[in-house]
Amino acid sequence: MTTAHVFIAASLDGFIARTDGSIDWLTPNGADVEDHGFESFFSQMDGIIMGRGTYEKVCTFGDWPFDKPVIVLSRNLAGSTLPSDQDKKVRIWDCSPAEALERVAKEGWMRAYVDGGKLIQSFMREGLIADIILTRIPVILGAGLPLFGPLPEALSLKHIKTSSFPSGLVQSNYEIVP
Ligand SMILES: NC(=O)c1ccc[n+]([C@@H]2O[C@H](COP(=O)([O-])OP(=O)(O)OC[C@H]3O[C@@H](n4cnc5c(N)ncnc54)[C@H](OP(=O)(O)O)[C@@H]3O)[C@@H](O)[C@H]2O)c1
Repeated sequence: MTTAHVFIAASLDGFIARTDGSIDWLTPNGADVEDHGFESFFSQMDGIIMGRGTYEKVCTFGDWPFDKPVIVLSRNLAGSTLPSDQDKKVRIWDCSPAEALERVAKEGWMRAYVDGGKLIQSFMREGLIADIILTRIPVILGAGLPLFGPLPEALSLKHIKTSSFPSGLVQSNYEIVP
């Protein structure tokens, strides 16, 4: 079975984007020149499973940024034609998190990077997230798109380590206790 892993940044009050989806607040002064470990994390992943909201945001960045396979989970985009620079790199699937993990496992993926607030919540509700690297940005947005949401029962986490950066970012690694 493919395991699912999260690397995400949130405001101190737990939002991953402003209500309008903007993420300009993610890199406070000095954060853009720090190594927060994303490349190291991403090098261990076989591909990304992302929500439609995150996919649509990435599409606004210009050239497609990922060199690994990307699965977008979406009902709305199922069957739509992808831009040519995403050809063979991106696939849209209309399926559940568990089915997505089963399908990528058949392709040989060992580890999937799961991205997008609603999608991460959905994976969590189904007990499918193995670990989380959560970077706290020193800002309180007051409102926005939440990282976490309702769960059928509380999830216990094992704290692995916490690091802080001169910019004020605080990064914690957790494993989900099965
Ligand atoms: N701070 C960070 O590190 C970070 C990281 C990633 C993203 N973001 C930001 O977060 C925003 C997007 O996050 P989001 O929470 O709004 O959306 P999301 O999780 O990226 O996408 C949610 C959409 O995915 C589709 N989906 C398919 N299967 C699903 C399932 N089982 N559970 C949930 N969704 C499923 C649905 O679209 P359909 O209706 O088409 O099915 C749903 O509306 C963007 O603004 C992005 O920039 C921030």
